[in-house]
Amino acid sequence: MRKSKTGSLKQQYSRAEPVKNRVIRLARELKERTKELRCMYAISEVCERRGISLEEMLQGIVELLPASFQYPELACARLVSHAGVFRTAGFLQTRYRQRAPLIVNGRRAGALEVCYLRKSQHGAGALFLNAERKMLYTIAERLGKVIELKNAERELKTAHKKLQSLLRSVENSREEERRRIAHELHDELGHALMAIKIDLRGLRGSLPDDEVISDKTRKMDSVIDTTIRNLRRIAWELRPILLDEFGLQAAISALAKDFEGRYGIRCAVRICARAGQLEKPVALTLYRVVQELLTNVARHAMATKVSLALNSAGAGLALIFRDNGKGIPESAVSGKKTLGLLGIRERLYGCGGTLSIQGRRNRGTCVSISIPLRAAKEAK
Ligand SMILES: Nc1ncnc2c1ncn2[C@@H]1O[C@H](COP(=O)(O)OP(=O)(O)O)[C@@H](O)[C@H]1O
Ligand SMILES: [Mg+2]
Repeated sequence: MRKSKTGSLKQQYSRAEPVKNRVIRLARELKERTKELRCMYAISEVCERRGISLEEMLQGIVELLPASFQYPELACARLVSHAGVFRTAGFLQTRYRQRAPLIVNGRRAGALEVCYLRKSQHGAGALFLNAERKMLYTIAERLGKVIELKNAERELKTAHKKLQSLLRSVENSREEERRRIAHELHDELGHALMAIKIDLRGLRGSLPDDEVISDKTRKMDSVIDTTIRNLRRIAWELRPILLDEFGLQAAISALAKDFEGRYGIRCAVRICARAGQLEKPVALTLYRVVQELLTNVARHAMATKVSLALNSAGAGLALIFRDNGKGIPESAVSGKKTLGLLGIRERLYGCGGTLSIQGRRNRGTCVSISIPLRAAKEAK
């Protein structure tokens, strides 16, 4: 059986074309396919290059094309697209041309073409091989997809930037409003209460010496004192004056001290010197984040200790905030309705920062935050 098959193959060969010619033809075809394959690989490599712009990618691909055609020394290539026209050096549109349409989002958006500067003197067969035509169409199709992808990527980046700047402007106006209310509270109400307090003191001196009246006025005086203290605290929480005047280190240290005094939870603070050089919006972001994290510890953690470290990390800052409480549940970390954490995320997003929260049952919570310092300039 086998023998007869071999025999018949032999006969076929001798009838169709001499073996030697066939081998030469196959070798030539193999060489062409290898060139095409190499070109496809090189194109893939260009497409996957990190950080490459669309224009660089298209130019790179156009330059790779001629080498995969039968007569590379005579070939030149050009891509006409919405993204621009890209061509090999010395491109010339001739009548020895192969062309494939460029389709982007279902619409014709240009063409990819390869031209021979002149007809080759060596080749007797077709100027463009079938496989070459197919390859050009495949590459044009792939280019269409790449352009779609890059366009989408660009739109996403623009939307991301817009959202960041929107969040920053919302945050800025919120802070501005807080500053205004804090000043009104402090200057208007605070001064009015102080005036009442002084008047009351004057009044007490001129009142008849009556036990009931003096007890009442003493109580009124003490209520005024408490109200003034509360007012100062509220104004201070609304607008940390220390942050404006002495920087992040002083403001966070004061926050921690106040926290310790109020809740009896020890709070160790370590802040690197670089924090003193932060731009105002970034310092304010970090301050507000720490404020919310401390409030969360007081409200939810049942902790006895907190540690907070703000250090330089590469081109940015890293904040590690830990407590030794009951540990935040996973559902709260990934929950969408946790407004305090959402606020932290929004603030960080506005300045390009990241947040990671890990809770371990009865072994505390660790919050890690990173802020790139280039964000400082953009956040203005
Ligand atoms: N340090 C913490 N330890 C334990 N649980 C926490 C801690 N911080 C937050 N949580 C949990 O995460 C939830 C979401 O926090 P947050 O978004 O700040 O909302 P809120 O404080 O208003 O409840 C809290 O309700 C609480 O259950
Ligand atoms: Mg909270």
